[in-house]
Amino acid sequence: MKQSNKIFKGKTLAILTGGGDTSALNSSIESIRNRASMLGFKVYGIRHGWKGLLGDGDVLDLTHQPYDGWYGGTALRSSRTNPFPSKKNPESRVPQVLRNLERYKIDVLVSIGGDDTNGAAKKLYETEGIPVIGFPKTIDNDLRTRTIHLCQGTQTEAVLCPGFPSAAQAIMEFTARLKTTAESHSRIMVLEVMGRDAGWLTGTAAFGGASMGLIPEVEMSRERKDFFFELVKEAYMKSPKKSLIIPVSEGVRWYDEKTGKLDVVYASSEVDEYGHPRFGGISGVIASEISQRLKIEARAQITGYFPRSGACSAYDRRLTMTLADKVADLLLREEYGRMPVMEKITPYVELEEFNTTSIDMGDVGNKPLPEAYFDINTYSFNSAYMDFLAHILGKPAFPEFEYDFPVVIPFG
Ligand code: F6P
Repeated sequence: MKQSNKIFKGKTLAILTGGGDTSALNSSIESIRNRASMLGFKVYGIRHGWKGLLGDGDVLDLTHQPYDGWYGGTALRSSRTNPFPSKKNPESRVPQVLRNLERYKIDVLVSIGGDDTNGAAKKLYETEGIPVIGFPKTIDNDLRTRTIHLCQGTQTEAVLCPGFPSAAQAIMEFTARLKTTAESHSRIMVLEVMGRDAGWLTGTAAFGGASMGLIPEVEMSRERKDFFFELVKEAYMKSPKKSLIIPVSEGVRWYDEKTGKLDVVYASSEVDEYGHPRFGGISGVIASEISQRLKIEARAQITGYFPRSGACSAYDRRLTMTLADKVADLLLREEYGRMPVMEKITPYVELEEFNTTSIDMGDVGNKPLPEAYFDINTYSFNSAYMDFLAHILGKPAFPEFEYDFPVVIPFG
């Protein structure tokens, strides 16, 4: 198609990324850029999330630039800037955003983010009529996408957000590696995993050989803790190599014997502009209680930013391209205030545009791990969750070396 015949010639689309980075952000940017420019848009990148639309603006031209979508993180950079008034920043910066959209002649805005970034985009659409398209992103996988997971005749409302598949693979591989060290020292490894208030990412450790797990969706009251310690002891004693890996979500609410309170462990007392504190340190608390109560050597291991960093996985690459196809469809229909999503949880080869749909951004919100995926009586992720993960990760991956060497009895 000749440049002059392109449908959206003369129009500009701008992309921004907000919130925590993921390995799939550059892939999302590149895929959206490619499709939008094919339709004739000039494509801009707004730097540092909403912050790039404040003051004089911070905007780059991505239209005919080489791009590496496999490279992790976001070339546009990110921030947790909230253009709407918040406790931390009571001033509304919406007028600055509107001024810059006008100055840079931006016709359509694509916001790549989680609940916060897309929530702000939704408000701009609803209150100011700005043509926005949301694009999902989060390693936490807690942004509602209304994606259906069909498993043994049961339908579960699941979530599939770009960024999660790469992070899931990283946690699976991390756990599988840790297994040999846990076995070598007959230890219990308490593996802390990001995910804020949702246990989706924590569960991916089960694909790397972890047995149990603690998630934010299940409060660890004093009674629940007692029960949990009993199960840990039993599982450890039964394990052939006297070792266990127990993944725990950073946002687990844990009963503190000293204060008599149930709370998360905070890494800092500061909150961001969306009101979120930072969690961190629960694994140390749990490991030391295991050591004290059960007299079994336990260590804490924080996975931190590991699942957020590094290259995009193949699944994420294709997922972002497929969702970008849906963005092109929304652009062609001039349907704004919507977010492309997968209609059902699919294996790699079925990540195709015909399996996508879009949801109203009014529907954007948090979605914790469904009860159907976690067995509260064994503190473990069940077969339905393993089926969900199998669609994304393929087969579970962890090494097994079964040995049973005969014990040598001394002669004298
Ligand atoms: O939302 C993504 C996430 O990685 C959470 O899992 C985590 O709680 C938070 O971001 C950490 O944020 P920051 O990048 O500010 O440390």
